Amino acid sequence: MQVSSGDTVLVTGASGGVGTYLIQLLKMVGAHVEALASPPNFDFLKKLGVDDLVDYSADVSTQLANLPHANKVIDAVGRLDLLEAIIAVTRHFDLLSLSTTTFPEHTQDQTFQFANGSIGLNGYKRLLNWLSDGTLQAHVQTILPVEQIKQAQHQLVEEHSHGRILIKF
Ligand SMILES: NC(=O)c1ccc[n+]([C@@H]2O[C@H](COP(=O)([O-])OP(=O)(O)OC[C@H]3O[C@@H](n4cnc5c(N)ncnc54)[C@H](OP(=O)(O)O)[C@@H]3O)[C@@H](O)[C@H]2O)c1
Repeated sequence: MQVSSGDTVLVTGASGGVGTYLIQLLKMVGAHVEALASPPNFDFLKKLGVDDLVDYSADVSTQLANLPHANKVIDAVGRLDLLEAIIAVTRHFDLLSLSTTTFPEHTQDQTFQFANGSIGLNGYKRLLNWLSDGTLQAHVQTILPVEQIKQAQHQLVEEHSHGRILIKF
């Protein structure tokens, strides 16, 4: 999926390890970014550059109806009911999912693609350069010693995420 400054992109899983990088990269190309997230993460996501926020635990369709319609959707959650709520409002779009391989209900105006390919050596080099010069920020939720790996797993499942949980060896 190509994204440029004329695009309005809706991102699910916006506050997670993947989403926090995704938002920064989308803002770098000048896209208008809408994020589905939980309210405790709204301030964090605004600071990351998100233009519009939608609470995934409330009525998603109604909230989206009051925002500019996205022409691209990047899904980092994989909840089909959530994607269906998005489709109900955002009728013409390209959907790229990192989290579900199947999404059967779409029309000719809608494309669906699952992505899990490597970004390649040059892609990694570019990201590392952006991280080292500060263009891109790594958001670390917490750092735990390997002895507390169970606690890290619980945190991942039970708490709202903002960035990555790192394990120290
Ligand atoms: N295809 C690939 O190549 C590839 C590569 C890496 C990752 N992935 C996939 O990308 C996804 C995200 O990975 P991640 O490491 O960023 O995970 P993560 O750090 O755990 O983040 C998960 C995100 O999903 C949100 N979320 C959790 N439950 C939700 C729900 N019921 N409804 C809506 N949103 C919900 C979380 O928001 P709250 O914390 O606010 O609840 C958080 O923003 C995963 O599905 C992973 O398998 C795919």
